[in-house]
Amino acid sequence: MIRLMTQKDISAAIDLYANHMFDSFFNDLGQGFLRVIFESALASKYARCYVWEEGSFMPGFIISATDSRALFREIFWKKAFLLLIQAALFVIKKPSLCLKILESFFYFRRTKLEDVKAEFLFISIDPAYRNRGISKELIAKTLAEFSERGISRTKVTSKKDNHIVNNLLRSLGFNLIDSFEFHGKENLLYEVRVSHAKE
Ligand SMILES: CC(C)(COP(=O)(O)OP(=O)(O)OC[C@H]1O[C@@H](n2cnc3c(N)ncnc32)[C@H](O)[C@@H]1OP(=O)(O)O)[C@@H](O)C(=O)NCCC(=O)NCCS
Repeated sequence: MIRLMTQKDISAAIDLYANHMFDSFFNDLGQGFLRVIFESALASKYARCYVWEEGSFMPGFIISATDSRALFREIFWKKAFLLLIQAALFVIKKPSLCLKILESFFYFRRTKLEDVKAEFLFISIDPAYRNRGISKELIAKTLAEFSERGISRTKVTSKKDNHIVNNLLRSLGFNLIDSFEFHGKENLLYEVRVSHAKE
């Protein structure tokens, strides 16, 4: 069953993300950093956060933004100090992260589709619950919400070597727009017309 994420789901969402998005930049900055990002998203008018619930277990979640640039700008201005504190230890241990942090400020300039504000940001499903259509349902729920809000197009980026998610996106009708290097890896940018996405 899909429901809105609440504060109580944050720790489980962090575990799902940290344990299964091994090469994520956000993971490099530690779980405290991720917590600030997820909690801020939950509190923001720009983000939509859903979870999949089975009994008392939450095996999957999705976080999207109706305006991802506005969301990250809001998080940065409200939480810059907290983010800095959370990331400091990890940056001291691995100074090369400084360059990635700097590059992050140019993410929106590096990606095409600047006019498409809505974006899928984070999704992760517990391995024991995969291939049961949970992601497809979470994505469909988010698209329905975008549609209700009058949003006509949305985008998502993925790592080129994440074959499972790239396959999933293509099967849902997402169109590949561009490939670009970011944080030292090849990334893909997709777009879909909200009303054209396949169920
Ligand atoms: C990507 C992920 C979210 C998919 O979740 P899921 O609930 O298993 O996905 P669904 O069951 O809704 O859809 C499965 C689809 O994934 C794709 N897929 C699944 N296993 C695959 C494999 N081994 N090879 C290629 N594609 C595969 C297929 O398109 C499949 O659809 P199909 O069964 O109709 O062919 C999940 O694997 C995950 O959490 N991965 C780790 C986190 C991650 O990579 N997040 C994305 C960051 S951009």
